[in-house]
Amino acid sequence: MDLSTEYLGLTLRNPLVASASPLSQTVDGVRRLADAGVGAVVLYSLFEEQLRQQAALDAELAEAGAEQFAEALSYFPDEAEEEPGPRAYVSLLERAVAAVDVPVIGSLNGVTPGGWTDYARAMQDAGAAAIELNIYYLPGDTHVSGRDVEQRHLDVLARVKDAVTVPVAVKLAPYFSSTGEMALRLDEAGADGLVLFNRFLQPDIDAETLTMVSGVSLSSPAEARLPRTWIALLRGRVRASLAATTGVETSADVIKYLVAGADVVMTASALLRHGPEHAAVLLDGMSEWMQRKGYATVDDLRGILAVPADADGDAHERAGYVGALRNANSSAYGPA
Ligand SMILES: Cc1cc2nc3c(=O)[nH]c(=O)nc-3n(C[C@H](O)[C@H](O)[C@H](O)COP(=O)(O)O)c2cc1C
Repeated sequence: MDLSTEYLGLTLRNPLVASASPLSQTVDGVRRLADAGVGAVVLYSLFEEQLRQQAALDAELAEAGAEQFAEALSYFPDEAEEEPGPRAYVSLLERAVAAVDVPVIGSLNGVTPGGWTDYARAMQDAGAAAIELNIYYLPGDTHVSGRDVEQRHLDVLARVKDAVTVPVAVKLAPYFSSTGEMALRLDEAGADGLVLFNRFLQPDIDAETLTMVSGVSLSSPAEARLPRTWIALLRGRVRASLAATTGVETSADVIKYLVAGADVVMTASALLRHGPEHAAVLLDGMSEWMQRKGYATVDDLRGILAVPADADGDAHERAGYVGALRNANSSAYGPA
């Protein structure tokens, strides 16, 4: 059986990719993911603000050190002068690339134009097979227009594409007035891949303590429906690779994304919940399904349930909506 897959111009041994999560914060973690069989690993994101905070702290420490421990400080002047944050990430990336035989993709969440480009270049130099731009931007300023938000995405992509030669994927949110047009514009601007979708951390409220509760919650398979709908619509309409992320718990979830048209299927929550070795369970389940259904390659099944590229996407969505309401009226509710 041939599970090999093309993603961002890279050849992967299979379409299951470990998406950015704390599981890739160590070389050992990356090795466990690769040993469990994933086709590629996206490292956790490097966040520019964290680096800046760290740099400020280090500068303060270096200053204090200069007064109190002038002699000791002379032993490590470089450390006191340079930002250590990117070096830690770059070092992890270099070691991870050397440790595993699957592509390792760097993930970047920048703030400033210089941050996006400098860190992207550093990741490329460290051996990243590609760079994923984690554009986590929720426009809290209520005066920012939708077109400005879109332009921000395009500007970041253009800058990074100018700075590196490795493929660049954009991980974006589903919250655009016209997500499809945004995808098309990113495609035209040279995105090598679209990762659908970023999952925003939405704080909750504790009604007893009347406090805001923030924290990361793991996903559930029902959340896969939105990204899957968009993947089915975008298949054949963009040149960029399509990566699905959100809601993969079982091998059936992987298959559903592939038949919708995903080039690769990413997973984080399931691997956090069950351990990196769960990747092998997902891959075994996928192979077993392919055998049972008579598919010899992933290419044979990819996109078989995508919206045909020449179909009217609006009409397709409307027909699905009306059909779903008709079913609901006859009390035929599907599973969550
Ligand atoms: C604990 C945790 C940490 C994450 N860290 C990152 C990150 O650093 N960068 C990023 O782009 N996505 C990050 N994500 C998002 C995941 O990569 C993934 O896109 C999202 O969780 C949806 O996929 P899932 O349903 O398989 O979890 C994180 C998710 C979780 C649960």
